[in-house]
Amino acid sequence: MAAIYCCNPPSANNIHQLLGDGKKVVNDHVAYRTFNTDKVNLNKFANHLIALGYDECGQYNFVAKKLTAKHFEHQDASMPKVFVSELRVEEFSPSVQKIIHSLVEQLPDNISEQPNFLYSGRPWKISFKDYQTLLAESEYAAWLAAWGGYRANHFTVSINHLESYHSIIDVNERLKKSGYALNSNGGEIKGDDAVKLEQSSTLADKALVEFSDKNAEIPSCFYEFAKRYPLANGELYTGFVAESADKIFESTNAVA
Ligand code: NI
Repeated sequence: MAAIYCCNPPSANNIHQLLGDGKKVVNDHVAYRTFNTDKVNLNKFANHLIALGYDECGQYNFVAKKLTAKHFEHQDASMPKVFVSELRVEEFSPSVQKIIHSLVEQLPDNISEQPNFLYSGRPWKISFKDYQTLLAESEYAAWLAAWGGYRANHFTVSINHLESYHSIIDVNERLKKSGYALNSNGGEIKGDDAVKLEQSSTLADKALVEFSDKNAEIPSCFYEFAKRYPLANGELYTGFVAESADKIFESTNAVA
């Protein structure tokens, strides 16, 4: 399973060191992005996750971003939850749809059956010009086209499992003191104890991407922090909060 953490944001090791005091940091969840086209849609991810022992546990709809998402939990609760979203391509302009279809058309029909599908990175070529056309309509589409969905786009530190920090406020303060920029869209802390989940995230680091016509620095992956609260039965809430996730997506915005 370690293989699915392919995305290594440049600041990852520093964050583990900072919050974990050198100890192991527990991952609450990883997230994937994809297009809803037949070859690579959410169900194709689900097949891999189910084969790994995951069950489908929740569904989410992001109307403004035109996304459908599901989350998956493993029978072994120490395994990270997985959040997969897919872009509803048909809801975009003809020019955006055409670019997305031109990417997916580059893929073999059986791409999702390949064992390395979940960490194959970006399996298509794209020009910077097309990236910018996508960016004008959807930050998500542009990020996905530039990076490929087939890498985890964030790792989430479980605050519940940290020894030195118990509140998300303390975690955020520590990060800011160390120079990390936090995603403040919708406030630095998304959610609260009433919805049983608090989340915050760094803004994605920029990294150089090779486009077919030029190289350019664009937002890459980010780090997320999650604190879960117990339900009436004493067990920690394991779901996601759509309103919070909506803002977390914006951690990879070009201008956040
Ligand atoms: Ni997340």
